[in-house]
Parts: sequence; C-alpha cells; structure tokens
Amino acid sequence: MTIEVPTHTLNDGTTLPAVGFGTYPLKGQECVDGVLSALEVGYRLIDTAVNYENEEAVGEALRRSGLPRDAYQVTSKIPGRHHGYDEAVASVEGSLERLGLDHLDLQVIHWPNPSVGRYGEAWRALIDLKERGLVRSIGVSNFTEQHLETIVDATGVAPSVNQVELHPYYPQASLRKAHERWDVRTEAWSPLARVGDLAHEAAVTGPAERLGVDPAAVVLRWHVQIGSLPIPKSASPERQRSNLDVFGFELTDDEVAALTALGRPDGRIFGADPETHEEM
Ligand SMILES: NC(=O)c1ccc[n+]([C@@H]2O[C@H](COP(=O)([O-])OP(=O)(O)OC[C@H]3O[C@@H](n4cnc5c(N)ncnc54)[C@H](OP(=O)(O)O)[C@@H]3O)[C@@H](O)[C@H]2O)c1
Repeated sequence: MTIEVPTHTLNDGTTLPAVGFGTYPLKGQECVDGVLSALEVGYRLIDTAVNYENEEAVGEALRRSGLPRDAYQVTSKIPGRHHGYDEAVASVEGSLERLGLDHLDLQVIHWPNPSVGRYGEAWRALIDLKERGLVRSIGVSNFTEQHLETIVDATGVAPSVNQVELHPYYPQASLRKAHERWDVRTEAWSPLARVGDLAHEAAVTGPAERLGVDPAAVVLRWHVQIGSLPIPKSASPERQRSNLDVFGFELTDDEVAALTALGRPDGRIFGADPETHEEM
C-alpha cells in the first residue's frame, strides 16, 4: 500500500512532501532500483545532485515508475565548480538533460563555498531560471544565517528551502530560528545521523518501545514534529517504508525535548562546517 504523505507550503506558494528520499550514494542499477521502490512505497520527493553522479539513474527510475510528472518532485544541486551565473544556468540545464525532465521542482546551491565568494552569482541565476520556468522553487543548502542574509540583501529574494545537516546530535536550533525570519523551510540531510549510536540512545529506544516502531521512525517523527523536512536514504524497501510511515503516531513533548537534548556543539557527523568545508 502506498503511504500518503502530508505537505508543507513553501514561501513561494508551492508545496513539498513532509518527508523526501535521499539518493546519495546510490548509483547505477542500485539507484534505479532504490528510487523505483521508494516511489512504490509512496515517496514523492527525490533528492539528487550533480555531484552524486546518479541523475541519469534517477531519471530512468522516474520514467519506469509510470507516474505522471505532476505526481512527484525532484531536487538537484549546483556544485561549487558551477557558481558563476552562466555556469549555474548550464549546470541546471545539464541536470535537466541527465534527468530527462523539462523542469526541476526544487533547485538548490549545494554548498556556499565562501572562500570562492560566488554563491551570490549562482543565486541570481536561480532567480532567473525560476522566472523562465526551468525550476519551480529555488533554495540553498548548507547556508549559515549570514550567507542567507547576504543573498536576501542582494536580491530581495529569500530561498524557499535551506537543506542542512540536522539530526538529534545536531539539532540546529539557532539556524531553524533564523529560518523563521524569511519563512525558509528547513530540510534535513543525514536526518538519521547515518544511524550508528543514535538507534541505541534511551531517548530513541524508549519511544520506539512505547509506540512499537523502529528507532529510525522515532527520529524521523522528531523531525516532523520540529518542522524539519527529512530526506532519509535507504536502499532497502522495508526500511524505506518504515522511514516514511511516520504519520500515524506522535511523540510527547517530553520525548521531543529528550531527543533535542542529545544535541552537542560537535555533533556534526563529519565536521562539515559550511564556513570552512567546501565542495567543488
Ligand atoms: N546537501 C548536502 O550537503 C547533503 C549532504 C549529505 C547528504 N545529503 C542528502 O541527504 C540524504 C540522506 O543523508 P545520508 O544518506 O547521509 O544519511 P541518513 O539518511 O541519515 O542515513 C542513511 C544510512 O542509514 C541507513 N538507514 C536508513 N534507514 C534506516 C533504518 N530505518 N534503520 C537502520 N538504518 C537505516 C542506510 O542504510 P540502508 O541503505 O542499508 O538502509 C544508510 O546507511 C542523502 O542521501 C542525500 O540525498 C545532502
């Protein structure tokens, strides 16, 4: 049975499903199979990027699913090496070609790469690409409050989404608060902190036992209740299903608070501080 997923309305009036599907590091046939089963389970937001080198495989899965174009949404990301205006336009055109689509539903800038200092040019390109209809919604990824302020001050246009590392070990309280200023939707990458120790925390196992659900489902439900849009990756159809099936139960306020209290200043999974970590 296909799981029905509620949606969030973005600051540009479009909507996104409240849970999406991450595709990194799926590639080739494993990616085709993974995305196809995710679509069968009910995921309707698929997250890819130029740098994942899997856009062709994602496109193949979308075609093979037989779903009409308006039944699903696709996000891609402009890599650091494409931060000039013309480079960003060509980057998005390349993503569309590889995916076999005529528009992207959400296009983001993958990392700010502040030492290069050209993310503002890529942002201007996205504003124009939206105007041309090649992308429906525009956003950023791994932007700090200061990076957000820079592009909003320069253009008057706020991103609809900021996709950032967010999980109970790194709950991003102050950035989420900053997002409220511009009504930016917080999207969470590595929402399960790639699991590991997290599944064994008492703040996770307690609610999992009480509710009779997987530890990962507790963490994903925490995302939903704090207003974060998680994009978990799984190659397994069973885990894809339990990761999406998080709308039929609720955590108490105390359970949410206990999960948030797992946060720590060095809680990032590989220390990727957007001020210093750059990806080309
Ligand atoms: N914007 C960025 O800079 C950025 C950076 C990193 C990631 N991302 C995006 O975010 C997506 C998700 O992040 P992520 O893949 O790093 O981390 P994640 O979704 O937190 O964790 C994925 C890992 O958890 C396992 N897993 C998934 N569901 C599980 C479950 N129910 N129980 C136990 N294990 C489970 C998966 O293994 P199995 O496949 O074997 O289930 C996989 O090893 C990526 O796929 C990518 O699309 C974006």
